[in-house]
Amino acid sequence: MKQLLRDVLPPETYRSMSRVKNGLMSGHVHRKLMVKRGMGERYLGVRVDTVSACNHRCQYCYTLDLTGHRTQLMPLESFEKVAKNLFPYAHTLALSCTWEPTMNKRLADFIRAAGDFGVPYKHFVTNGSYLTEEMMAAAIETGIDRIAVSIDAATPELYKEIRESDDLEMVLANLRRFQEMKRARGVKKPVININWTAFEENADQAVQFVKQNDDVFDTFWFWHLLPKMRNEVIAYHRMDKKRYYGVVARLKELLGPRLTSSEYNEDQSNKPLGICNRSLENLTVHPEGRIQVGCSKHYLEGNVIEQDFSEIFEMNEALFEQLFHKETEFCQTDCGR
Ligand SMILES: C[S@@+](CC[C@H](N)C(=O)[O-])C[C@H]1O[C@@H](n2cnc3c(N)ncnc32)[C@H](O)[C@@H]1O
Ligand code: SF4
Repeated sequence: MKQLLRDVLPPETYRSMSRVKNGLMSGHVHRKLMVKRGMGERYLGVRVDTVSACNHRCQYCYTLDLTGHRTQLMPLESFEKVAKNLFPYAHTLALSCTWEPTMNKRLADFIRAAGDFGVPYKHFVTNGSYLTEEMMAAAIETGIDRIAVSIDAATPELYKEIRESDDLEMVLANLRRFQEMKRARGVKKPVININWTAFEENADQAVQFVKQNDDVFDTFWFWHLLPKMRNEVIAYHRMDKKRYYGVVARLKELLGPRLTSSEYNEDQSNKPLGICNRSLENLTVHPEGRIQVGCSKHYLEGNVIEQDFSEIFEMNEALFEQLFHKETEFCQTDCGR
């Protein structure tokens, strides 16, 4: 429906309608979340970066910013405290956000520690090259729901050009091993999803990739390169709608319902337009325990390694209100939505 409206309406009309809809809906969504909070139900979407490093250098990456960067690693003992202080409030948990989770060599222990808090949906996103059998076993045994693996080329040459890394064969071998381990245990989870960030230069290779590597994944996202977020200049080119949907049609023929995301996005990001109701569902924990509201540059007061999130919420209630009404300086000047 959303895509149909996008196709038939002029972009500006679609954007205005979307703003109005979200403006009307967001109060309702926010109130529902507050009711959940009052009733002691889970009301947060949380991502944790246990390490701030990446072994790839994707030319289009909107999060990789190495200016003045210092790698940080969250100790397991700190993660256990974060888990105790935060996970009982979370309906969704990702063990990754901005960086590459497998740069944490003890990720398997972190996955197991995350499994103890009954979070209904657990997942993470990885480039897949450093996934070890230990990590895979931990993910299977802890009931991780989905692992998204970012691949954006079918040939080692293009993969290397995009990522400055020669790892494609290693990633594919890891995924084959992962599927074997799932089969041996008779389980379907984690679902292995390919995240294919698509642009003019790599779109046709998605079809080639699917034909050659159908066995390594369960579901496939064909996801359009976002035109602008943290990186102002991207070396690759966005496709127009016709070209994009031409590739989607070829993928659909091969994948059917396994193609689970193929929306064309004309906006600056994939977040909803209008008044923002997403701040409580977009919390990112950094390795030192500070929490950032993922859609903005705002950091919450407090530290979740030391404090329970109920205390942190109270300290930041005014900021959440401001974000929900889109009243912060960031919302007004930087966000543009
Ligand atoms: C930033 S990465 C972090 C996790 C991990 N390092 C990985 O690559 O899977 C998360 C996802 O963002 C996607 N991504 C990065 N830059 C993007 C952009 N400019 N447009 C759309 N998706 C992008 C990546 O392809 C990846 O699937
Ligand atoms: S692997 Fe992920 S975090 Fe690293 S550069 Fe690529 S998209 Fe960015």
